[in-house]
Amino acid sequence: MVVREAIDGQLYLEQKRQLTDRWLEFFLPPGDEDPQTLHQVMRYSVMAGGKRIRPILAYAAYEYCGGDLTGEQPQPIHFAMAALEMVHTYSLIHDDLPCMDDDDLRRGIPTAHKKYGEAAAVLAGDALHDIAFGLMARTGNIKTVIELADAIGTQGMIGGQNSDIEAEGRDIDREGIIAIHTRKTAALIRCSVRVGQLLAEAGPELYERLSIYGEKIGLAFQITDDLLDIEGDQELLGRTIGSDDKMKKATYPGVVGVDVARNDARKLISEAIETFELSDRENMLCYIAEFIGKRTS
Ligand code: IPE
Ligand code: IPE
Ligand code: MG
Ligand code: MG
Ligand code: MG
Repeated sequence: MVVREAIDGQLYLEQKRQLTDRWLEFFLPPGDEDPQTLHQVMRYSVMAGGKRIRPILAYAAYEYCGGDLTGEQPQPIHFAMAALEMVHTYSLIHDDLPCMDDDDLRRGIPTAHKKYGEAAAVLAGDALHDIAFGLMARTGNIKTVIELADAIGTQGMIGGQNSDIEAEGRDIDREGIIAIHTRKTAALIRCSVRVGQLLAEAGPELYERLSIYGEKIGLAFQITDDLLDIEGDQELLGRTIGSDDKMKKATYPGVVGVDVARNDARKLISEAIETFELSDRENMLCYIAEFIGKRTS
């Protein structure tokens, strides 16, 4: 039983990762179209791989909420999936810049600025942000556009990134690190789940419940990210470990210790799963929550 579920879940992640890649490939401007270099940088970073967890969450939430998957493609959910991954990749390109985390490796290859220079990396991130909003608007559901704008704004990802930089080398408490992680990472993850719910046109009860789920797995996701920076496998991760320590970052394990961090991440995953009724836990959202707690990359 356990083995079958594990295989099904793994297969689902792989299939939806491929689905995401197909639509990203479709929506990204061609590398041989002007401005060629800019388009190539965008493609370089987006198509380098990655787990595609945000688009997969949107899709899984859409399915869970009874979203329609018949009819001509691309459908609104496909536009949204590509938009979420483009915004995420833009955030990674900018996060790696020398003025931010100053990282040389991402998704197993040199960071965009290392390969193409800082100006090209900044502009590629900007352009991905722009295309993402165009795609989200094409879902025809204005609420999803507002969700995305709110999730990555000054009260969301960008605000969190700002606090992350300001907290370098400073002493902060548990409440402080939770506030940073909730905004810099959990906001976009929660948004991905909400977008799936909104496109499925499910009722407000599901919106509220899935929001709690999304916030909990989002916070667990960043705690795990911090742990992987300490004890992860660089090959699997595709980026340089020890980067947080080098940059004197405020991290969750840095504040509470590795053991408590691991425990808190596990607790958040359990709480996320408990937002579903006991009889309703054989679904992909629960599987993904568990995956987030156990991930090695
Ligand atoms: C890394 O995100 C940055 C964070 C927000 C923690 P992911 O771990 O989702 O990176 P990819 O997309 O799989 O490369
Ligand atoms: C990044 O957090 C959060 C973003 C919004 C991009 P990190 O700086 O910890 O992500 P990694 O470790 O570089 O992937
Ligand atoms: Mg960072
Ligand atoms: Mg970083
Ligand atoms: Mg990190």
